[in-house]
Amino acid sequence: MVILQARGLTKVYGGGRGKVATRALDNFSLEVHKGEFVGIMGPSGSGKTTLLNLLATIDRPTAGTVHIEGVDTATLRGEELALFRRRRLGFIFQDFNLLDSLTIGENIALPLVLDRVPVAKIKARVNAITQRLGIAGILNKYPYEVSGGEQQRAAATRAIIHEPAIILADEPTGNLDSRSARDLMETLTLLNTAAGATITMVTHDPFAASFCRRILFIRDGRLYNEIHRGESRQQFFQQILDVLSLIGGGADEPHESVASRR
Ligand SMILES: Nc1ncnc2c1ncn2[C@@H]1O[C@H](COP(=O)(O)OP(=O)(O)O)[C@@H](O)[C@H]1O
Ligand SMILES: [Mg+2]
Repeated sequence: MVILQARGLTKVYGGGRGKVATRALDNFSLEVHKGEFVGIMGPSGSGKTTLLNLLATIDRPTAGTVHIEGVDTATLRGEELALFRRRRLGFIFQDFNLLDSLTIGENIALPLVLDRVPVAKIKARVNAITQRLGIAGILNKYPYEVSGGEQQRAAATRAIIHEPAIILADEPTGNLDSRSARDLMETLTLLNTAAGATITMVTHDPFAASFCRRILFIRDGRLYNEIHRGESRQQFFQQILDVLSLIGGGADEPHESVASRR
């Protein structure tokens, strides 16, 4: 079943009043099926965040369409769009985005609270999923009392608690050390395989990307290459490094201590 279908996405920024226009995305198409874990990689400035913002309905394309669960997102406005985003999408950002005044448990429950789900049902669901993910012990702590890695695993849990159609993540390991990055990627893998989450993740980190099942590479706003993972994550990691070395254009950052992280 197709969950997300993006067709011919083009995004042009600026160009008014004699300013130079930037074609950040150029006729990009993508289809994500239920249960997929898709990565999007590419050099800095290649259009990754632009693409994710269009998929997330945070921004609108210059041309092209985004359908999510068959809904043409261009037809949604105002309150309707906000509700769609809240109910059908899950987000994970680079900087965790947890509310400091709420406990970890309250943060995770937030999407259900906003939707007025009965308290007993919320408790049962939060308990079930946090036990499964091994973070039940930090539910009563505040974000500043736990590590960055734990905060991001809580954010990942919050992103799935309302059973969205798709989870969209932009550089979710960007602020994590390598140990926490591995924990987060194992959590996302569990959400994908055990909880059936459909995930699309932008990353420039080849180690994080190696947990995906399929990766699309973007260069200059266009599809450059697409690879699928076989059984071995280590082999996939190597394959990713090979494509990155060909794609050139200056990857975002040097891939530090790559050998030690496989
Ligand atoms: N709001 C904006 N206004 C103008 N140009 C932008 C804006 N956002 C991104 N760009 C440009 O679009 C291109 C793609 O950017 P982006 O999608 O952020 O790439 P990536 O996430 O792959 O680094 C870059 O050339 C960038 O400078
Ligand atoms: Mg970006």
